Amino acid sequence: MQTDAIEQIKDKIDIVELVRQYVPGLKRAGKLYKACCPFHHEKTPSFTCSSEKGLYYCFGCQEGGNIFNFVMKMENLTFREALEKLAAMAGVELEPAKLLSAEEQRRATTRKVLDWARAYYHKNLLSRAGDHARTYVKSRNLTKETCEQFELGLSLGPGALVQAAKQAGYTEENLKDAGLCVQTERGLREYFRNRLMFPIWNPRGETVGFGGRILGEGEPKYLNSPETILFTKSHVLYGLNFAGPVIRKVDRAVLLEGYMDVIGCHQAGVAYTVAPLGTSLTEEHAKLLKRYTQNVVVLFDPDEAGLKAALRGALILTQAGLFVKVASLPDGLDPDEYIAKYGKESFENILNHAQELIAFATARQLARHTAPLSAQAKTNIVTELTQIIAQQPDGIVRREWVKYVAEALNIDEPLVQQRLAQTLRANTQSTRFAPAHKPGVVRADPTVSLPSAEEDLLAWILKSPQHTVLCAQLSAQDFSSPALWEIFQAIVKTHMQYPQADNLTEQTAQALPAQRNEIVKLALLPTPDDFDPARDIAACAAKLEQTGLQRQLQKLTQQMKSYGTGNVPPDVFQTYMQLQQKLKKYRG
Ligand code: GTP
Ligand code: MN
Repeated sequence: MQTDAIEQIKDKIDIVELVRQYVPGLKRAGKLYKACCPFHHEKTPSFTCSSEKGLYYCFGCQEGGNIFNFVMKMENLTFREALEKLAAMAGVELEPAKLLSAEEQRRATTRKVLDWARAYYHKNLLSRAGDHARTYVKSRNLTKETCEQFELGLSLGPGALVQAAKQAGYTEENLKDAGLCVQTERGLREYFRNRLMFPIWNPRGETVGFGGRILGEGEPKYLNSPETILFTKSHVLYGLNFAGPVIRKVDRAVLLEGYMDVIGCHQAGVAYTVAPLGTSLTEEHAKLLKRYTQNVVVLFDPDEAGLKAALRGALILTQAGLFVKVASLPDGLDPDEYIAKYGKESFENILNHAQELIAFATARQLARHTAPLSAQAKTNIVTELTQIIAQQPDGIVRREWVKYVAEALNIDEPLVQQRLAQTLRANTQSTRFAPAHKPGVVRADPTVSLPSAEEDLLAWILKSPQHTVLCAQLSAQDFSSPALWEIFQAIVKTHMQYPQADNLTEQTAQALPAQRNEIVKLALLPTPDDFDPARDIAACAAKLEQTGLQRQLQKLTQQMKSYGTGNVPPDVFQTYMQLQQKLKKYRG
């Protein structure tokens, strides 16, 4: 294990310094540091970081951990990758990676095959066999430099790739794993033939798949690699490997529709543009963008299908807490054509005049009705628009949107507000029995709530585990959730196992990885100024026991009522008496 190296790295890297590289706004607040969370959108800081403990926790999105968790999340790295990065930063030597599991080996080989294929396709494009393809590329206004940057390539006729791959030492299995070949009744078949090839990169710049465009006219115009262990279409944004740093710098991203659009825009100097791979936008795309900026412009085709897609995409991004604007180009030109014809400035001018989502949706509704609006039309429009406002997780923005709609339709603001309240109520009712985390629906407004007595107790015994004996009377019933009871047990057990450990929080989190976020949060809860561990822990444990007993008593009383007078089974009654007895000491 790399335990020593891990500990050395933790000692050498101050989490506050590390976080500050990604979150410049990190400010001291007492013993802790605070900032707006880099992992979700918020206006008031609930992201907390402690130098002393080497931990971070966001009270808004409930994410927390140590320096490794932070870098893994921030840069989308595996643990090993984060370890290597931080080791290099700290100047700590690592042992060579241990033997890879079969799964890891398959991933590593697939990565190598894709790298090889990218170079192979690219070489084809530059060779004699690529003459016609290079002519096509030129006809699409792409320069040689752009071709190099995006490593455009060419797939040749049947058999060419397989032959070259075998010469390079790869097997048919490798090619299938990489999504470059498929098995058919008539043998192995290349997925891409005679197409202009676009390598698809993940944000780290690793090739994960390909897009292939037919040269000239024909169907299907584009093909994407099938999904593989490295490639999930809905998780990738084309161009993000180049656009990422630029998006951070200009603090906005533009979503386009196609490969060619992204390449054309980058070539023209608008390098904060990305595109999904011909699929609709997903929550994963939103999460990905949020690591770079909160401001997104969706650029869409000005036809009905484009409008619909823009609205749907914008809503998904809005739900995820991004600030979304929508824009379209005049003349029915694609972005790559527009920017080639009118230039960067004109293109950016259009982006700068993008409409807010609510303005866009309102205009769309107004265009569907004839003026002057009838009362019925107004009602219908407000119903549609409050559905959109309801998706906006930011309360302040919601208010602004209500105001906007009221003004645009000439309706009293309280009436719109009232309709919104109805919509919100209807929405929560219909989701009440839904699974806690439904993809596409983001919990609205995570507000920071005060810690409960249970959380206080857990935080305090993490701090002063030698006092856990004072909680010996507690049982599962005294905790309002099984998770908190589980954490309590884990702390006690870990402390017994490693009584001398100075990193009880991390040991406990390791013992109960499913509750890591909650455990880290507890460790970072502030203690009262006059904290007296023995006194406060004992008092808190007593309080928990009391509420636990009261909760049980209440349940039992309900149960007894349902039996009816005289019909209560003796054992139930006995339990009742026992509970009353135990509660006595709290009543004196
Ligand atoms: P050009 O015609 O080369 O300018 O491409 P484009 O990017 O303008 O294509 P279009 O606007 O028609 O499509 C946008 C995106 O949808 C493309 O970049 C592809 O990702 C995807 N796409 C288009 N046609 C197809 C298709 O036939 N099959 C699949 N799977 N995806 C497609
Ligand atoms: Mn196009």
